[in-house]
Amino acid sequence: MQQVIVIEHPLIQHKLTLMRKSETCTANFRLLLKEISWLLAYEVTRDLPLKYEPIETPLASMDAPILALDKKLVIVSIQRAGQGILDGMLELMPLARVGHIGLYRDPKTLIPVEYYFKVPHDVDKRNVLVVDPMLATGNSAVAAVERLKSTNPLSIKFVCLLAAPEGIKHFTDVHPDVPIYTTAIDSYLDENGYIIPGLGDVGDRLFGTK
Ligand code: URA
Repeated sequence: MQQVIVIEHPLIQHKLTLMRKSETCTANFRLLLKEISWLLAYEVTRDLPLKYEPIETPLASMDAPILALDKKLVIVSIQRAGQGILDGMLELMPLARVGHIGLYRDPKTLIPVEYYFKVPHDVDKRNVLVVDPMLATGNSAVAAVERLKSTNPLSIKFVCLLAAPEGIKHFTDVHPDVPIYTTAIDSYLDENGYIIPGLGDVGDRLFGTK
């Protein structure tokens, strides 16, 4: 069953508005994406399994919850814009493993072309968060998840900042079993595949390449 989870926390919505503003400079854009990524990580890891371990506090013994690290996470970034979310999430979850998928959109067809794929060798024993800020046409996300499914991970969640209705439909049609986490669903895609109102080209704004 497909799930689209829109995380409407006021802190996230406030920071997202700052990111959308065209006058926000690269340094602030990068910082805001990192901060939103922390908050996204908090939401998407709600169901991580815990186990109990006996510990001593200064006053008593107790069985205390810690993450069950036998089911480790992999954060897979769709390059290049996924790096912005990856960096933030890694600060919160430094033990997570990392995968990279290099895809670029052919500017004419908007079809993704894979140029790099590297994930941990034991990804079949791990839960995967696929991160890419913009679910626009959905082409890259669909291709990335298709490729990841061939490595047989325990589970996959797709995490983005903004989604277009067209991208959600495309993704949902192909991967109804993969939940989408986003902070907003915008209006539509323009003829160049940009999300409107959106926030422009995330890669360019993140890396200052425009
Ligand atoms: N990628 C972006 O960076 N921005 C969009 O609006 C769509 C895809």
